[in-house]
Amino acid sequence: MNDNLLDSTLVDQLQRPLQDLRISVTDRCNFRCTYCMPRAVFGHDYPFLPRPDILTFEEITRVSQIFSNLGIRKIRLTGGEPLLRKNLEQLITQLASLNNIEIALTTNASILAKKAKALKEAGLNRLTVSMDALDNPTFQLMSDADFHVEDVLKGIEEAHKVGFEDIKVNCVIKRGVNDHALLDLARYFKGTAVTVRFIEFMDVGSTNNWQPKEVIPAQEMRDTLHALFPLEPVPGSYLGEVARSYRYQDGSGKVGFITSVTQPFCQHCTRIRLSTDGKLYSCLFATTGQDIRTMLRSGASDNELQQAITRIWQQRNDRYSEVRQIESRNRKKIEMSYIGG
Ligand code: GTP
Ligand code: 5AD
Ligand code: SF4
Ligand code: SF4
Repeated sequence: MNDNLLDSTLVDQLQRPLQDLRISVTDRCNFRCTYCMPRAVFGHDYPFLPRPDILTFEEITRVSQIFSNLGIRKIRLTGGEPLLRKNLEQLITQLASLNNIEIALTTNASILAKKAKALKEAGLNRLTVSMDALDNPTFQLMSDADFHVEDVLKGIEEAHKVGFEDIKVNCVIKRGVNDHALLDLARYFKGTAVTVRFIEFMDVGSTNNWQPKEVIPAQEMRDTLHALFPLEPVPGSYLGEVARSYRYQDGSGKVGFITSVTQPFCQHCTRIRLSTDGKLYSCLFATTGQDIRTMLRSGASDNELQQAITRIWQQRNDRYSEVRQIESRNRKKIEMSYIGG
């Protein structure tokens, strides 16, 4: 073990520390959100990853242990839809035994109601639910699947019951499609323990036909909400937090805005992503990843893996959201369902 690696905080080329690991546990999803997995592309014949290509729980845990040695503080399980991964709670149990690491999960909540208890018992610390409307027609327009708002609300309710606190709801707003979800969701969750975060529609991946005119800038969303329910800014809760937080002036909770398009937050980006098939991506908008699976499966030692990961982070200089104007729009970015949100 190289002690120097442990003694100093690991930083990248822009002096950003490595803090969060986001792990995509499956590239599959039972939704086909138009902004993420458009059905025309992710159809019946879409070549999802074959099972042997997918990291096993043991492999994921081993990599996570190495990241833990390197000082990360949070692991977020994503997908695709992470709850579709069989026996996910088993992985969570394994990860929960790592020292001082918070385990979080982002889900579409379609099957959360029946999984919440097992997730809690396995040691999952926090839950974020994606939900883009409160009415079924708009919800189905966004998710393009045969699920209902009630499924998601039931999932959130059950999660509360089994002891999850501070649940967050993520809502992507697309202009002209679900604009009204802003006020609907804010009104519905105001006064509850749930914090809603409204996300600017991002140009992630290469298939969602992103167009700037479909982005509602966070400033506009904030003004719309503020006109109805006065807001005041609150400081972020940790370095690298992606959401800008506000509280309702009447004391009835908080909301957030994720401003990747209009106010990038690359300066404080502390995240690395592990894809379902074991590649490390140092940016959500990356075009290529670094293969860790081959090392895992060819007898590399923990020390060798740690050194490889250290090098990847030390060489990192990504800041896509800050330079998207000058980057080629046509570059083949990796899909979010594969790399994790
Ligand atoms: P907590 O702060 O721990 O609650 O989680 P989080 O906000 O980091 O995670 P979550 O999965 O809820 O992320 C919210 C959304 O922010 C994601 O769905 C993405 O749309 C966006 N996002 C997260 N990380 C990044 C990032 O590194 N870059 C960009 N551009 N967007 C991100
Ligand atoms: N723009 C913004 N957010 C997105 N997400 C997925 N695709 C996009 C996109 N193109 C969000 C989902 C979920 C999280 C994992 O990422 O809504 O909350
Ligand atoms: Fe599935 Fe989430 Fe992508 Fe929607 S945003 S298709 S729920 S992975
Ligand atoms: Fe981090 Fe890349 Fe997102 Fe910037 S665009 S915040 S560098 S993941």
